[in-house]
Amino acid sequence: MAESVVRVCAQAEVAPDSVKAFEVGDRRLAVFNIGGTFYVTDDECTHASASLAEGMLDGDVIECCLHFGAFHVPTGAVQAPPASVALRTYKVELKGDDVFVDLDRNAAGEPA
Ligand code: FES
Repeated sequence: MAESVVRVCAQAEVAPDSVKAFEVGDRRLAVFNIGGTFYVTDDECTHASASLAEGMLDGDVIECCLHFGAFHVPTGAVQAPPASVALRTYKVELKGDDVFVDLDRNAAGEPA
């Protein structure tokens, strides 16, 4: 396993169609369970630092609770202003009952 691959949480800690934040080293990551598929992004909104895990998950879009900017969870793409910078995503690996991420790769598996 690459050194950049780290455990984030147990799959059971994130209920279906919900999001929860976890500390991983010096990062705070948001883990999404969307219909049984897991996605991981930075938890901090790119607009003004709100926690996205405290936002509203609507399908595969997370709406920030502070100014209602929104992001497409699988890609991190901005869906609604005032957010204008894409959200950092992470490559997810499921191993046993746990969720791991590769801190060096985005959700598409590209170096990030
Ligand atoms: Fe998220 Fe402003 S902090 S939209």
